[in-house]
Amino acid sequence: MAAPEPPRGARPWRGVIEEYRSWLPVDADTPVVSLGEGGTPLVRSAWLSELTRGEVHLKVEGDNPTGSFKDRGMTAAISVAVAEGAKAVVCASTGNTSASMTAYAARAGLTPIVLVPHGRIAAGKMAQAVMHGAEVIQVRGGFDECLQISRGLADSYPVALVNSVNPVRLQGQKTAAFEIVDVLGAAPDLHLLPVGNAGNISAYWIGFREYAEAGLAASTPRLWGFQAAGAAPIVRGEPVPDPDTVATAIRIGNPASWRLAEAARDESGGRIDAVTDEQILTAQRELGSRDGVFVEPASAAGVAGLVAAVQAGEVDPGLTITITVTGHGLKDTETALRGVDSIVDSVIDADVEAAAEVAGLA
Ligand code: F0G
Repeated sequence: MAAPEPPRGARPWRGVIEEYRSWLPVDADTPVVSLGEGGTPLVRSAWLSELTRGEVHLKVEGDNPTGSFKDRGMTAAISVAVAEGAKAVVCASTGNTSASMTAYAARAGLTPIVLVPHGRIAAGKMAQAVMHGAEVIQVRGGFDECLQISRGLADSYPVALVNSVNPVRLQGQKTAAFEIVDVLGAAPDLHLLPVGNAGNISAYWIGFREYAEAGLAASTPRLWGFQAAGAAPIVRGEPVPDPDTVATAIRIGNPASWRLAEAARDESGGRIDAVTDEQILTAQRELGSRDGVFVEPASAAGVAGLVAAVQAGEVDPGLTITITVTGHGLKDTETALRGVDSIVDSVIDADVEAAAEVAGLA
């Protein structure tokens, strides 16, 4: 006879620190600052499974409390910062780190200071930082300059740095790899994701490796990371002084976790490649229209990379493949709506027949 189901609600998701406490750099005294992050859906993609003749699942990280994977690292980093007595926190960001940091800082009663590239962050992300009461400083420069300033502030002033150069961030972010193995019951053959500052690919590698070393997975996946072609320093092997891409979240020319990402690539037998803005925007639209998953442009880089690799004949059939889609599409509606005026501008009088006609039903 099957074991009785636990009563509904008996086991609510508790956030990544409580769910994976023994794997994280916290102890019984660490105050847990959580918004219930993690536990995000692993959604099977029918069209990508068909395309690869394998099994493809999307790890939908836009379902985190502030709409991106950053919340996993931020619950850990802010909790540890509070334990260490921090009163203020600082980060450089292309928008998602700042959205996340300011939310967790607000919850913990810390003063959040964010440095973002002037005029180059999506409006939704800016609105998040504003709503969470941040001091938002726009820097005439890109993410790389913002990160230099953040480091400088943390070196000289009483403020804790919570960019992913803070190793606690990667520890929190590795929990996404744990969840994938927990849900699939095994490690995938291949895991794909976007690469910007290169923290996340490094974090996934820590997670997959730790589960394998603990005997909770029999193998580790190959990691395939994708940068935007106009911001692909790791692919080119040198910093890009003036990175440019429609995927503003990964518009980074000199990633902080460059070496860690290369190690993740090489140790996993993987690769880091570039995808064009056009490939990214096409993948974003396909995710929206085929899977019902609306992501921001940067988040579609892994899917763009998979499609390109299949077209190049580089994906063997029969693989189990997971792809992290990193952030929610609602953060950047401007890019999503760019150029679609001709599709959405049927303006009619309030009339059924007229609606039927423009909808192509009549
Ligand atoms: N996808 C999204 C939506 C992101 O916001 C980022 C990074 C990445 C992918 C790349 O991850 O940096 O760990 O390689 N955003 C950072 C930020 C830089 O400031 O929000 P990464």
